[in-house]
Amino acid sequence: MCHTVTIAGSGESFRVGADESVLAAALSQNLNLAHDCKSGTCGTCRVRLVEGAISYREEPMGLLPEEAEAGYALACQARCETDLVIEAEVQPALATAPGRQRAVVRGIRRFSADVTHLTLEVPDLDGFSYLPGQHVSILMEDGRPRSFSMASAPDGNRFDLHIRRIPGGLFTDGRLPGLSEGEGLDVELPLGSFFLRKADFRPLLMVATGTGLAPIKSILESLMDDPDCPPSLLYWGTREPSGLYLHDDIAAWRARLPEFEYRPVLSRPGPGWEGRQGYVQDAVLSDIEDLSEYAIYLCGSPAMVAAAKGRFIDAGASINHIYADSFLFEHNR
Ligand SMILES: Cc1cc2nc3c(=O)[nH]c(=O)nc-3n(C[C@H](O)[C@H](O)[C@H](O)COP(=O)(O)OP(=O)(O)OC[C@H]3O[C@@H](n4cnc5c(N)ncnc54)[C@H](O)[C@@H]3O)c2cc1C
Ligand code: FES
Repeated sequence: MCHTVTIAGSGESFRVGADESVLAAALSQNLNLAHDCKSGTCGTCRVRLVEGAISYREEPMGLLPEEAEAGYALACQARCETDLVIEAEVQPALATAPGRQRAVVRGIRRFSADVTHLTLEVPDLDGFSYLPGQHVSILMEDGRPRSFSMASAPDGNRFDLHIRRIPGGLFTDGRLPGLSEGEGLDVELPLGSFFLRKADFRPLLMVATGTGLAPIKSILESLMDDPDCPPSLLYWGTREPSGLYLHDDIAAWRARLPEFEYRPVLSRPGPGWEGRQGYVQDAVLSDIEDLSEYAIYLCGSPAMVAAAKGRFIDAGASINHIYADSFLFEHNR
């Protein structure tokens, strides 16, 4: 049996078949509800049920019990039991529709022993653009994707990636070390629902671990020299000092971001480090008692994103103002 889902506020509606998820139905009817993994893990497709009932085949991992109790559901897993009215984020139309392209390697250099700076160009795309914070999928020979966030603000047909080597990883440990300038890669782009919400005017609290810095850098670069840029506070967590591969560059962002503060946090600093120590989410919570006024962007390790989300909500953060990108491996998505 089909049900009708109506978006509160806009009044847009779509039909959902008996065996379809709410998200799949919306996308098939050209309503671009925010989403990413489509497997119930990332939490990006969260909607709030205003009226009606849903069910899941299996309880999704990406929804906190507090969120379920507050009436939220994951659209990529939810099946309609009745007609629904939902509050949901419909993504803005993109200048470039997501699609498959041939990219060319334009630069490769080492930031550190584990992190590579890769510059790609998509020469055949006229007027290429993306939302700061979005990612690209590099397609392996068997067609399976590997996701990497654009690390630069949109500017022409080139973009940067920050790629951490994963021991035993097919792309980062297998293919990347042998790549050279001029080589081609099949990619799909632009993708993802982690991007700057321009209409969310709150002060920005950005929390990244490791190469989770990449999309945060894209977002902050897109705000540089913008007189309307809200105050921004960046916590960047890694294990050791060598993990802070852009430490000096970030310190210099103050000149172009009006009220910008940068707080690096190391979990295993070793001798000589006089800065913050521990987990990055703990550093945030020890500095800021009440998170209710912030737009919060979380990006990097799934463990940090999950822990920060739960604990930040306990510290007053609003579910509706937390945007998160978990760097899950493809086989976990
Ligand atoms: C939206 C998004 C954005 C991302 N952005 C970035 C970014 O900007 N920078 C970045 O560095 N990373 C990013 N990541 C993470 C990145 O996608 C992964 O690190 C990358 O895909 C690893 O690819 P790989 O081919 O090297 O490793 P894979 O071949 O996928 O292997 C990863 C690890 O899992 C093991 N493994 C493989 N298959 C299995 C299996 N079936 N069972 C158990 N273990 C297995 C491997 O041995 C290896 O240790 C992002 C992830 C997402 C989802
Ligand atoms: S898109 Fe639904 S949880 Fe990721």
